[in-house]
Amino acid sequence: AIDSNFDQNRERAGDENGVAVWGPVEPPEKLGIHGTHVAVDYDICLADGACLENCPVDVFTWVDTPDHPVSEQKVEPTNEDQCIDCMLCVDICPVDAIDVDAS
Ligand code: SF4
Ligand code: F3S
Repeated sequence: AIDSNFDQNRERAGDENGVAVWGPVEPPEKLGIHGTHVAVDYDICLADGACLENCPVDVFTWVDTPDHPVSEQKVEPTNEDQCIDCMLCVDICPVDAIDVDAS
């Protein structure tokens, strides 16, 4: 599962698609955690898609991650600023790849 303390345990490696990326990032195998309020561990996400299909405010968008060992697509929390903290994505992800900081 995603480390919910990632913002303390990881270094910020940069930004992609307008969201923070928390390292380590060593493409194509290691892609880090994307987002801060809504965070997706790219090395755990297997592109199930339930988060993107069910988020009531369309926070997520697909991005291509060619040659990543787990899946060749991931969800970017592109619109994390719109998140209403419903926690649906956290509950529905089959591999616990998402953390939402509702505090
Ligand atoms: Fe969308 Fe709810 Fe997840 Fe926020 S917590 S990203 S609103 S599904
Ligand atoms: Fe990935 Fe989980 Fe969404 S596997 S696509 S973060 S439901």
